[in-house]
Amino acid sequence: CGIVGAVGAEIDLLATFEGLRRLEYRGYDSAGVAIIHDGELEVARASLARESMNQLAEWLAVQPYSTGQVMLGHTRWPTHGAPTLTNTHPHVDCTGDLAIVHNGIIENFRELKVGLVARGHRFRSDTDSEVIAHLLEEALASGQLPADALTEVFTQLNGHMAIVVASRAHPGLLLGVRRTSPLLAASAVDHFFFASDAPAFLSLADQFYEVPEDVVVVLGDSVEGDGGVRLAELEPLAIAWSSQDAVLDGYASFYEMELQQSPSAFYDTVAALMTTDHQAVVDQLSIDPYELQRIRKVVIIGCGTSYHAGLVGRYLIEHLARIPVEVDVASEYRYRDPILDADTLVVGISQSGESLETITALRECVASGARTIAITNVIGSQLSRVADGVLYTRAGPEISVASTKTHLAQVGALGMLAIYLGELKGVLYPDEASRRRQELIAMAELLRATLDRQSQWRAGIGDYLSREHFFFIGRNLLYPVAMEGALKMKELSYIAAEAYPAGELKHGPIAMLDEQAVVVALLGDDRLHEKMLGNIEEVRARGATILAVATDGDAGPDELADIVLRVPKSEALWSPLLMVLPLQVMAGWMAQARGYDLDKPRNLAKTVTVE
Ligand code: G6P
Repeated sequence: CGIVGAVGAEIDLLATFEGLRRLEYRGYDSAGVAIIHDGELEVARASLARESMNQLAEWLAVQPYSTGQVMLGHTRWPTHGAPTLTNTHPHVDCTGDLAIVHNGIIENFRELKVGLVARGHRFRSDTDSEVIAHLLEEALASGQLPADALTEVFTQLNGHMAIVVASRAHPGLLLGVRRTSPLLAASAVDHFFFASDAPAFLSLADQFYEVPEDVVVVLGDSVEGDGGVRLAELEPLAIAWSSQDAVLDGYASFYEMELQQSPSAFYDTVAALMTTDHQAVVDQLSIDPYELQRIRKVVIIGCGTSYHAGLVGRYLIEHLARIPVEVDVASEYRYRDPILDADTLVVGISQSGESLETITALRECVASGARTIAITNVIGSQLSRVADGVLYTRAGPEISVASTKTHLAQVGALGMLAIYLGELKGVLYPDEASRRRQELIAMAELLRATLDRQSQWRAGIGDYLSREHFFFIGRNLLYPVAMEGALKMKELSYIAAEAYPAGELKHGPIAMLDEQAVVVALLGDDRLHEKMLGNIEEVRARGATILAVATDGDAGPDELADIVLRVPKSEALWSPLLMVLPLQVMAGWMAQARGYDLDKPRNLAKTVTVE
């Protein structure tokens, strides 16, 4: 979920609402706002899934006022309670004087609710969040000042959460508090803001601050004698993104724009990790090189697309540094009772740095004494603070729910890590390491050249866009690419797409193939080329349509495949960077052909802060 709050004299409601829109990537099943104007508290909600924001904008446009003293906003990805109007935030207490928005999960809400109901509170929703409003109502009724009341209520709540509170009794005041879930505060000349993420107010605020965990931050007119922390007591944050980064630049969707930005996202990431003469930039890592030299096992964890980048990273690290690598989805790894020690390096990958599973798993790895590195796109994000060291991807904000450019940047960062570990371990001589870095950074140009081929790809692919069943196959380094291709297609087009290691297809899934199936075969220019052609033959014999992705000049698929999408030749080791591009592009076309929203696929949220 995404939350915003604004307080000050004459808050521009539409501009604040635009801030909420920028957080839609965090969930869009329903949305709501609360406004305090002329001493009145008004709440509006909409639950038309992806239309919710437009509905709210229409509502705002017809109000007799365009400014207010306070605005709260919430865009929801439900954890408790269906995405109905009554479950949509903001929630209010029984008096109707208090409004709250909440992101996260309150694990003990049932017992709290039982107590509140027994004490006469009437609940309007099925959410866990509503207990906050009622508990606050009680604390304030007992005579506590606002920040003290929120502090007391917060200590009763278990789980991960960010909360922002507004009260009609104190219309110049806004309170925010968080545990694990993100919350930033921000200031402009005469306004203050809270938001789950910086893009919400990049264009309105001058200065950003992170809300520290477990303390109530007070914005606006604090009440004398009340507790909590004021902005002046916090350290300003360095935010590297500009307001232009989060704006559609002539593209129809963020998905298309961000895909097109992949070469620069990749280049900026890799370039920041090396000097101009291709040496490692060691201080980026903030882990002692001697500690890394001792590493005997690497574990990579992540979710979704980040997990798939990790799977590519396994091949890179094993090949370049000769260290055994395990990769697991974060939500599984944590419960495996993992075997870790100081000679294990755990790499947690998360675009947002907020996926709760990755954060909690990495936190446990830190506690077990392992060395840890975060690869994340968000400076100062939760994950970056949990780990011993951080490698930032420098992809700029990614708004589309389905990741594109950050995946490329993550693979780039993993490539740089692999080379560095190889050098430390003595597997790569310094000149080899520097040659590998040169190769890697040169991939940015090939990424650009690959993306220039979209019209060629499109010419052949049109006939297949309406098919309903896709298999993606690849071997070795290209197997994770097949997984990412299938994920993109599932996320954007909602069709059945499965990925298999090509050699495994004959051990069961081949039974599903018939004339309706399309098999996307990733044919690398490597030692497995012949074997892969054999696998394609097997598929062809079952009548499936074959769509091969192959490198320039490879005649292998010419006779076998129904259509061949070409990518430039490159070092086989870096080919996952190129091969994933036609799959990302194709997934976008499939969704467009079905009339689906590329940026906001149904049921998903970009950043999932619950386990
Ligand atoms: C969500 C998104 C996925 C994304 C995953 C991991 O499930 O829908 O597209 O890959 O989270 O996100 P992260 O920010 O941790 O990389």
